Amino acid sequence: MAYLDHAATTPMRPEAIEAVSAQMADVGNASSLHASGRRARRVVEESREVIAAAIGATPSEVIFTAGGTEANNLAIKGLFWRRREDHGERHRIVLSSVEHHALLDPARWLKSADNARVDEVAVGADGRVDPCAVTAAVASDAESVAVVSVMLANNEVGALQPVAEVVQQLHEFQVPVHTDAVQALGQVPVNFRELGVDALSVSAHKLGGPTGIGALVLARGTQPVPLLHGGGQEAQIRSGTLTVPAIAGFAAAMSAALSDREERTRRVKELRDRLIAGVKSQVPSAVLNGPDPDSDLRLPGNVHFSFPGCEGDALLLLLDAKGVECSTGSACSAGVAQPSHVLLAMGATPQIARSSLRFSLGWNSTAADVDAAVAAIGPAVERALRVRAGGSVVREAAASLG
Ligand SMILES: Cc1ncc(COP(=O)(O)O)c(C=O)c1O
Repeated sequence: MAYLDHAATTPMRPEAIEAVSAQMADVGNASSLHASGRRARRVVEESREVIAAAIGATPSEVIFTAGGTEANNLAIKGLFWRRREDHGERHRIVLSSVEHHALLDPARWLKSADNARVDEVAVGADGRVDPCAVTAAVASDAESVAVVSVMLANNEVGALQPVAEVVQQLHEFQVPVHTDAVQALGQVPVNFRELGVDALSVSAHKLGGPTGIGALVLARGTQPVPLLHGGGQEAQIRSGTLTVPAIAGFAAAMSAALSDREERTRRVKELRDRLIAGVKSQVPSAVLNGPDPDSDLRLPGNVHFSFPGCEGDALLLLLDAKGVECSTGSACSAGVAQPSHVLLAMGATPQIARSSLRFSLGWNSTAADVDAAVAAIGPAVERALRVRAGGSVVREAAASLG
């Protein structure tokens, strides 16, 4: 099996599996006062310290959540409500148009549920947002802005966004800036303090930790209205009994990702270049989407191609039949039969957007994975083109699996 879908989720690091297993064998609610509770609390706080140090934050700034989706929801809804509470006129949310659905959808929900106005700032053909365009959107009526959000790295085409510049330019307007760093953390340096953002979302399963655990990092004084009420855990911002095994696994994965990042980046980039060259040699009509891989503007493990004339879903199934696993874009929105909003925002036609595949490499990717994908892509494209000419797409491709 060639697993090339690390951006959807990456295999757990052995260190993380060990840490999770050790804690699962133990008992203790981190809020309990007895010895077992105190032991659990110690694990949580030590893990928080590791994660905070890795992100350039202080431990008290790290609020554990059930992953990136919850962190984004808490940031957007919580900051929107807080700012409107402070000043009723602040109803505008300014975003890049290529945010993940876990950010875009809560913002759009606020539009229908709570009269928010959502301004989506356009991106260039490479998927990157211009900080001046964000500033212009804010400056057009700065008093009405509740929150701004620009992701650090795009999950589909791997574009790294100029978040620090956005923060610098917006300084005079005093609006809270959030960034979704879910895809960036562990892949490129992420420093909360240096970025200067007010809130930053992360998720453990993208860097070799377990699913279902993440964090919203909040600068001192940034107080979103809580989404979950109950026991008052996490400084009253996120109630719920803490999941000690997952938190320990998050910290172990974070340490592992930090310790081999430079060496891994070099190796993953080499594999990525081999994959890009291989796909182009097998399918000359394939078009690479996103920033130039030779620049520093792209995630090291991201490869994203359009295959004109094909359906991405059909290609995915054909590759899967050959043991090559990839994605048609954002796995979180897979199953929704719509072209990717990211590619459309980059100027692709709906047909081209639907013809795309994302291959994402990670910490245990090998040359054999890449070579399997390169060997499978040419016949898959030929077959997908024939299937398409025949009228039906996914159904016939799926039938051909049998
Ligand atoms: C950029 C981005 N944000 C948020 C999420 C959601 O994170 P989680 O799966 O932890 O809920 C994802 C997951 O794919 C993502 O890629």
